[in-house]
Amino acid sequence: MSVYVIYFSPTKSTENIVKEIAKSFEDYIEIDLANRELNSNFIFNKNDICIIGVPSYGGRVPSVALERMNEFKGNGVSAILVASYGNRAYEDTLKELQEYLTQRNFNCIAGIAAIAEHSIMHQFATGRPDDADKKELGDFSKRILDKINKSLKCEPLKLPGNYPYREYNGVPLKPKVRKGCMNCGLCAKMCPVGAISITELKKTDNALCITCMRCVDLCPAKARTVSNLKLKIASMKMKKVCSQHKGNELFI
Ligand SMILES: Cc1cc2nc3c(=O)[nH]c(=O)nc-3n(C[C@H](O)[C@H](O)[C@H](O)COP(=O)(O)O)c2cc1C
Repeated sequence: MSVYVIYFSPTKSTENIVKEIAKSFEDYIEIDLANRELNSNFIFNKNDICIIGVPSYGGRVPSVALERMNEFKGNGVSAILVASYGNRAYEDTLKELQEYLTQRNFNCIAGIAAIAEHSIMHQFATGRPDDADKKELGDFSKRILDKINKSLKCEPLKLPGNYPYREYNGVPLKPKVRKGCMNCGLCAKMCPVGAISITELKKTDNALCITCMRCVDLCPAKARTVSNLKLKIASMKMKKVCSQHKGNELFI
């Protein structure tokens, strides 16, 4: 039996959450869906376990994450689905992920919606997952492992979400290069969708950019930012819905 930890995680919250859950499962193999070079011809076995995490973007699974799993062959493998979200809502994310994976013959046995610091508006869910979240995620994971070990028969997994899925057309905030760029090229190398030109680092293809914030997050010179004014306006709109404390949810 192999355990696979699979994630699309531009700013690492989803990766950290998925790895927190994986702690109960000893060794694991990592598959990074943000890697543009990923060869996605993975064939899993029924006895394997996949823990698959994505961030919620507009209540949906980022489409690039789905594209990178297109060639996956589940063969009945047990899958634990994880959606991280920035304290607003995850709407159809888990349901969409479940449907996509079920079509590829994954046996979705559990789902987790986990709160993480908002990767655009960091004032929401700041510092989460915190120690209490990590403990809870660990407890969730033990319950799932118990279910697997006892081969408990259960009802088909019912995850929240609605058809048709929410419409999501991206966010109108695109990172730009400000003063201080050292031309190190890390942003272009690591961009999950290749939106930054390798030869002209100041050039971003806004049609490709998914505002995942990876370039802003990893720039060593802090030279990539989004418009402060637009960020303030967006934050004001979101304040009410994002400010109250929300909990992680387990579906099993
Ligand atoms: C483009 C974009 C859209 C987002 N949409 C939502 C959303 O609809 N609801 C929400 O609660 N958080 C939203 N977030 C916040 C992320 O879901 C959250 O911060 C996530 O943990 C980021 O994952 P990562 O660190 O693995 O990249 C969004 C973030 C981005 C970058």
